[in-house]
Amino acid sequence: MLSVLRMTDECTVHMNEWTPPTIIGICRDSPAPDDWLVRCDDLGIPIRHDAAGDEWVLEYADDTLSLIRPDGVRVAVDFAAGKTRHRAQEAGRGAGVLSKALGIATFRKRHGRLPQVFDGTGGWGQDAWAIASLGCMVVVLEKHPIVHALLTNGLCRALVSEDSNSIAERIKLHCGDAANWLQTMTTDVIYLDPMYPTRQRKKADSKKGMQFLHALLGPSDESISSQLLATSLEHAQERVVVKRPKGADPLTTPTGWTGQTSTIASPNTRYDIYLQR
Ligand SMILES: C[S@@+](CC[C@H](N)C(=O)[O-])C[C@H]1O[C@@H](n2cnc3c(N)ncnc32)[C@H](O)[C@@H]1O
Repeated sequence: MLSVLRMTDECTVHMNEWTPPTIIGICRDSPAPDDWLVRCDDLGIPIRHDAAGDEWVLEYADDTLSLIRPDGVRVAVDFAAGKTRHRAQEAGRGAGVLSKALGIATFRKRHGRLPQVFDGTGGWGQDAWAIASLGCMVVVLEKHPIVHALLTNGLCRALVSEDSNSIAERIKLHCGDAANWLQTMTTDVIYLDPMYPTRQRKKADSKKGMQFLHALLGPSDESISSQLLATSLEHAQERVVVKRPKGADPLTTPTGWTGQTSTIASPNTRYDIYLQR
């Protein structure tokens, strides 16, 4: 049976005066796996047979964990699914913008190996998967326990599939706050994809995955993203890459940081690159 959820004490989300959706757990597999029961308990999610009208459902069925909104729309992490696979294939061509933003070719020339990447904003894992598809080892942090649980389940399924296990094995996922986690480590490259600022949300909200994240996480705070950038700049040996929507202001860099910045743009996304000296 797949491991569904993993909790740590760090799995807390700071949401100023914001109310997250009420989530209940429903297991369609019988008997319900023990770790599902234990983890729902850890997460404070009551297990029931049916949801009331306004409740969201964390559903476990056929080894797949999904989050379902009251309108029936669902998300699950599936690394074989079209969008993730396409993104990974694009990245895998080596000349993609993500590869350039991470500085993979330059790093390899300089150090004779691929960079180790820390993805501090795991989300649905699409970027982490694309980075792992480039051959890099990726440490991924996700702070929201439900998003982390869905991502864990997607990774577990990818690990047991022959098509995807070589990529999945390069990803080490943890639940917690990236800024705290970074206090104990350094890495070659840090990748951040914070939630988009409010101005840019309309377009992002047309995507189902982002709608779910906004509902779970509440309003995003640019100053917290800038703090995460500041911490990242203290712990990345080579560079920090921040994914931003086209037209958004860059995050604020800390006073006294003396590295160089550059950007790489693709049609809808911009990568802001912070190079250490
Ligand atoms: C825009 S999403 C990232 C999407 C992701 N790049 C992908 O490809 O699916 C931002 C995610 O980062 C997470 N996050 C934001 N700040 C974080 C932090 N300090 N530590 C860990 N996770 C964080 C949020 O919970 C959210 O799931």
